[in-house]
Amino acid sequence: MSEQQEVFIDFDTEDFSEELSLIGLTEADLRIVKQMKPVLQKHLDELSEAFYGRLLANEHLKHIIEKHSRIDRLKQTLAQHIIEMFNCEFNQSYIEKRLTIARVHFQIGLEPKWYIGAFQLLQSRIIDVAYDSIESKEDFKCFVSAVTKVFNFEQQLVLE
Ligand code: HEM
Repeated sequence: MSEQQEVFIDFDTEDFSEELSLIGLTEADLRIVKQMKPVLQKHLDELSEAFYGRLLANEHLKHIIEKHSRIDRLKQTLAQHIIEMFNCEFNQSYIEKRLTIARVHFQIGLEPKWYIGAFQLLQSRIIDVAYDSIESKEDFKCFVSAVTKVFNFEQQLVLE
């Protein structure tokens, strides 16, 4: 895990500097996370398959999904979203996309507890994929520490 990756944290305002500083998310973390992007890319189908499989097993969430969208469309949206997350280009557009997700979820009546629960599913799967592909214990620890900061920041934005 040593290749240099292009990543950035470049927002129009300083609005999120305190949030980032609280969780200690830096560009060094983003470089570590981005190194896993090619691995994640190979697992996108199985990740979104497992994710929506679990959501559809919940009657309440199944109802919301079937009322507002289609599972094939949502699988594509999620895959795209994961790739963007692992691109680690944190600019104003990154923030605005998260605020749009928040708005969309609010409009369909998705309560924060379900979003947080679903996020846990996604996080566990991604960490499993990383565990299978990172050989060194030290590198795996660095990845988990960095990626959970990215996930945390994402949840802060979507639940704001
Ligand atoms: C829409 C991500 C959890 C149902 C979306 C969109 C994204 C997204 C990126 C597209 C927003 C846009 O139009 O720009 C996520 C992530 C989640 C999550 C990352 C958690 C890890 C859930 C859960 C449900 C859900 C638990 C269960 C009902 C939907 C539906 C839409 C949507 C139905 C489409 C709404 C529409 O097109 O009108 N989500 N979502 N999401 N999400 Fe989620």
